[in-house]
Amino acid sequence: MVEQNVVNLLHEGRIGLAPMEGVIDAHTRALLTEHPGFDWTVTEFVRVVDVRLPPRVFYKHCPELTQARVATPHGIPVHLQLLGSDPTALAANARQAVSLGAVSLDLNFGCPAKTVNRHDGGASLLRDPRRLERAVAAVHQAVEGAVPVTAKVRLGFSDRLRALDCALAAERGGAASLVVHARTRDEGYRPPAHWEWIGRIRHALRIPVIANGDIWTLEDYWKARTLSGCPDVMLGRGALADPFLAPRIRHWQRTNERLPATSWAVRADILCTYAALQRSTLPERVVVSLLKQWLNQMRARDPEAARRFQTLRRETRLDPFLAGLAEHTPAASAVHQACRPPAAALAT
Ligand SMILES: Cc1cc2nc3c(=O)[nH]c(=O)nc-3n(C[C@H](O)[C@H](O)[C@H](O)COP(=O)(O)O)c2cc1C
Repeated sequence: MVEQNVVNLLHEGRIGLAPMEGVIDAHTRALLTEHPGFDWTVTEFVRVVDVRLPPRVFYKHCPELTQARVATPHGIPVHLQLLGSDPTALAANARQAVSLGAVSLDLNFGCPAKTVNRHDGGASLLRDPRRLERAVAAVHQAVEGAVPVTAKVRLGFSDRLRALDCALAAERGGAASLVVHARTRDEGYRPPAHWEWIGRIRHALRIPVIANGDIWTLEDYWKARTLSGCPDVMLGRGALADPFLAPRIRHWQRTNERLPATSWAVRADILCTYAALQRSTLPERVVVSLLKQWLNQMRARDPEAARRFQTLRRETRLDPFLAGLAEHTPAASAVHQACRPPAAALAT
């Protein structure tokens, strides 16, 4: 009964796939949206400094721009993210993105990377809400309502004193919605995420606020929604740790049933499919690094993933790495099938 009430309460919430630089590219977006769960995805950030970037930069970050619908192969919209602080440069690049077909623009005010912050990008704008507002307003005016402009923030740079001011500044600038990663920049990715702070922001704003940070399980999803009061959430690392997290949430919302835990065989299949996609364009050593990165995220949620990571962490050759994933894995024939490089890669 309690669970049914919770399901009723949580019905209808939307789920976004978080942007993750160096991790979530078009192939990852395609794999993670293969089963119903996510409602939208966001590209890695396009770094805007001072000039209008050439189309190839936008196509690299968002290959989906070349299609009639800017969406994953399963029809889930892809929003394009810009990171920068100069309003004029942001405006010029926003216009460029729209001219290339972008359907929604997101502005990154959360990136904690030292190099980015030193050059006045990402979370560094959280120190001055007026500058954040000017950046959002410049992009909003530049696109003249052709596409929605959204923003993504943290709770602050070193402290939370300006959390509300920054959120209000984004709203005043014309943001259509706001994702809040419930930590300050200085808190990095350390738990806990302060979901109750997202609730404070939600109370102060009229635009939709989307809760982000540390949602790894159904229980976390329930807590994040309850403490923030936000219907919509965004999943980052949790979706890599359990590629079925969004479908799991969606299934639970709709049926009140829990899907079984994601098995190692399914995880191995996803990793091998990912490798097959990546090896057609990237050097094998890079593909191995990407696989290790994803396997590393899976470790916390799956003991077999942890064991394989331990065994394979020094392997740098792709085929032995893939063999190590497939070895003694149930339904290995399907896994082997997925491990095969695409025909195009074999031909070159
Ligand atoms: C490796 C990595 C790369 C990230 N890249 C971006 C990015 O390009 N743009 C952005 O807005 N946030 C980026 N983030 C932050 C995530 O979108 C998200 O806000 C953060 O990971 C918290 O959510 P999670 O706990 O669900 O992972 C990145 C995070 C990680 C760990």
